[in-house]
Amino acid sequence: RRTAAVIPAAGRGVRLGPGAPKALRTLNGTPMLIHAVRAMANSRAVSLVVVVAPQDGATEVKNLLAEHALPERTEFLVVPGGDTRQESVRLGLAALPADITTVLVHDAARPLVPVDTVDAVIEAVHDGAPAVVPALPLADTVKQVEPSADGSPEPVVATPQRAQLRSVQTPQGFDRALLAEAHATVTQDVTDDASMVEQLGVQVVVVPGHEEAFKVTRPLDLVLAEAVLARRRA
Ligand code: C5P
Repeated sequence: RRTAAVIPAAGRGVRLGPGAPKALRTLNGTPMLIHAVRAMANSRAVSLVVVVAPQDGATEVKNLLAEHALPERTEFLVVPGGDTRQESVRLGLAALPADITTVLVHDAARPLVPVDTVDAVIEAVHDGAPAVVPALPLADTVKQVEPSADGSPEPVVATPQRAQLRSVQTPQGFDRALLAEAHATVTQDVTDDASMVEQLGVQVVVVPGHEEAFKVTRPLDLVLAEAVLARRRA
């Protein structure tokens, strides 16, 4: 039984504003990707981390991994990514050695996930759940709308009960064969890996997520992430 983490880090990060690919932007001087790699490697159960690099950035990512202190017991692989997150994850999965039985998929854009959350996901998979996602209740009420292309006010279609909704984070944990099957068969556009497994008809379960596992997407998220890091060091 061996666990690997695949980190899709090939996105441009357009919503963050102009600059380097998102995963290579720094938080308090260290690239977001390095924070994310450490977050996975800090779990004693993770023995391999596969980083899916920006298409033209594999060498740069290899250099970054060599420059930064990382746990010695962990193995690292770097592969170039694809045009979509889904394709990047598929390329990462294709690089896994045969003896990996559990896979985590973790967004480079969630650099500050605590190790306890990572361990809770792995433990749930090892306890027999084939697909596990960390998630939190929502603060906002969510409405489904009919999107308008021209900027006119969007009609509301429905308001799902907030108490039944969860905001889903990563790392998402899977039985390796199941996730490989999902990536081989589901072609529809999705925004997370668990939804591909859902489409196979397999039950996905939720474990408690963590506030600090938030996704760095917009400029304000960089401010928050640096504040969290400063507080950890204090
Ligand atoms: O765009 P979004 O925030 O959903 O991206 C989530 C993660 O997927 C990020 O870590 C990003 O680098 C990664 N990604 C990727 N390949 C792409 C697009 C996104 O690895 N083509």
